Amino acid sequence: MKPETSLARGELPAVDRATIHPFEDAQPGPFYYQRLAHPVGVEAERLLSELEGGRALLFPSGMAATTALALAMLGPGSTVAVAQGGYWGTVALLSGELSRWGLLVVPFDQTGPPPPAELVWLEPCANPLMSFPDLGAAVQSAHANGARAVVDNTVLSPLLLRPLEHGADFVLHSASKILAGHHDALLGVVACARAEDAARLEAFRSTSGIVAAPDPAWLLLRGLKTLALRVERQSASALEMARRLTDHTEVRCVRYPGLGDAVAARYVRAFGPILTFDVADADRAVRVERSLRLIGNATSLGGAASTLEARARWEGDRVPPGLLRLSVGLEDVEDIWADLAQALEA
Ligand SMILES: Cc1ncc(COP(=O)(O)O)c(C=O)c1O
Repeated sequence: MKPETSLARGELPAVDRATIHPFEDAQPGPFYYQRLAHPVGVEAERLLSELEGGRALLFPSGMAATTALALAMLGPGSTVAVAQGGYWGTVALLSGELSRWGLLVVPFDQTGPPPPAELVWLEPCANPLMSFPDLGAAVQSAHANGARAVVDNTVLSPLLLRPLEHGADFVLHSASKILAGHHDALLGVVACARAEDAARLEAFRSTSGIVAAPDPAWLLLRGLKTLALRVERQSASALEMARRLTDHTEVRCVRYPGLGDAVAARYVRAFGPILTFDVADADRAVRVERSLRLIGNATSLGGAASTLEARARWEGDRVPPGLLRLSVGLEDVEDIWADLAQALEA
C-alpha cells in the first residue's frame, strides 16, 4: 500500500478539547483558539497530507468541505461542471443553495471531456452510478479550458487513488465514510496541490468557522490506523459480491468498475467497497431492504459494517427505481453473501 506514510506508527494523541491555550510571554501559540487550529486536527491533517500527497485540511463534514471549497475558490457567476451520476448532495448544494450566489452547474458525462467551466468536479467510482473518468485526460482537458479540477475521492480513498498525482488541483473526501470507517464520526477533507490554495482555504475556514471538532478528528485518527486493512478486505469482498450478484436471477444489472472497466483498471488495482445493483422495481428494492438480517439497512457507506439502501428514496428519478447501493464491510464474505441471497429471494 503506502509504506512511506506514518499511519501505523506512534500512539494516538490525547483528545485536547481546550478551546483556548494561554499565551506564553504575551505571545499566542499555535493553538491559542480552537477555531484556528487544535492539536488533534493538526495531527489528522498531517497524516491526510501524507496520504494524498498535498496539504490536507479538515472540515466538519464532506458537505462542509464542499461548501468551503466552492465559497473560497469560486466567485459569483462561476460555472461548475459536475460529473453526472455522482453524489447527489454535491449537486443539491451547488445548483440549489449556491445558485443564489450565482453559481451555475453543468452536469456532464465524466467518461468524456468536461465542458468549459471554472471548476470541474470529478468522482471516480461515482456514487451511485459508478462511472469512472479517464482522470489524467479529464484533468488535462479541464486545465486546457482554464478550469481547475476537484476529485471527490470518498469511494476509493488515497490508498487506491491519489488524484493529485494525476494533476488534480484538489481532492475532496467525506471522511465520515471509509477514512474514519466506523460510522461514528462526521468529517470532511480537502487536500490541495498548491500551498497557496491551502492557505486560502485555511484562512476561509478560520474566518467562516467551518471547523471540525477534536473528538471526531480523534476518531478519524484511530480509524486511519486500520485504513489499509479495511480497504484491502472490503475491496476484495466487494468484488466477490459484484461477481456473485451478476449471476443472480433477481439482479438486472451490477455496477462495479472491478467488473471489467478498462479505464478504471488503468488507475487503480482494487475498486473499493461500494457497488450498486438493480432489482426489478422500487417495491422489490424495499422488499430486499426489509429482509436483511446482517447487513444494515442504512444510509452512508464505507463503514466496517455492511450497509445497503435503495437510493431512489433520496434521489428520485436520478437513479433507476430498483437501484440498491451496497457498502461491503468487514464481515465474513460468506455471511454477507448469505444475507444478500436470502434477502433477494425473500
Ligand atoms: C461521494 C460523497 N461525497 C460527499 C459526501 C458528503 O459527505 P458528508 O455526509 O460527510 O457531508 C458523501 C456523503 O454521502 C459522498 O458519498
